Amino acid sequence: MKKIVCDNYDAMCRLAADRILDAVRSNPRAVLGLATGSTPIGVYELLAEAYRAGTVDFSEVVTFNLDEYYPISPDNRQSYWYYMQQNFFSKVNVRPENIHIPDGSAADAALACRAYEAAIEAAGGIDLQLLGIGQNGHIGFNEPGKELYAATHVTPLTEQTLRDNARFFSADEVMPTQALTVGVGTILKAKSILLLANGKNKKAAVARLDDGMLDPAVPATFLLGHRDVTVICDREAV
Ligand code: GLP
Repeated sequence: MKKIVCDNYDAMCRLAADRILDAVRSNPRAVLGLATGSTPIGVYELLAEAYRAGTVDFSEVVTFNLDEYYPISPDNRQSYWYYMQQNFFSKVNVRPENIHIPDGSAADAALACRAYEAAIEAAGGIDLQLLGIGQNGHIGFNEPGKELYAATHVTPLTEQTLRDNARFFSADEVMPTQALTVGVGTILKAKSILLLANGKNKKAAVARLDDGMLDPAVPATFLLGHRDVTVICDREAV
């Protein structure tokens, strides 16, 4: 695991965006694993800027998002589907049929998870996976526990995650208490992984990556078992 400490959030985003742009320029059919949350917003802005400048083409790129609340409809402003449209897809030329986000409105969540996993495999797996990290060390919505799921699954959200993400919901919006998430095993199958962490509230979780232990109570530590992970963080997170 390689760790790069940047001076600030903007520098982190520049570095991550450049890695993604390089991946797409060298393989226009790259399969990208994408993340939500506040952390990657600056990365998506830079990718959109590159598209506007005509220096990258996303028309053949295939994307798989990590997770989605459950249950939630795509047009709900709090859905990750909505987030991705707002922050990225409406600004670039990824083809709608190449976009995959776990189906938060599926009647049968377990079936939707199996279909999602099959779609990732059919696409040949993820080439480059972008990740954020929860304060509790979650990746995607793989929450701390005694055991972790390998594949895409339905999960209850922990109290900490509900507290952390409540900031995005207004008083009259109901926050789902479950989510669909790609599993840790699926994340670890990605050829290359970028984990972004900024701010002092991520410091404790990032520090656990230095311990060298795989601990299901801190799901991000399982990334220590992958051969190509780059942690990109700012000074406050180390
Ligand atoms: C969210 C998402 C994660 C994200 C993390 C950090 O709940 N499910 O994929 O990485 O929590 O969010 P933020 O970047 O807002 O701190």
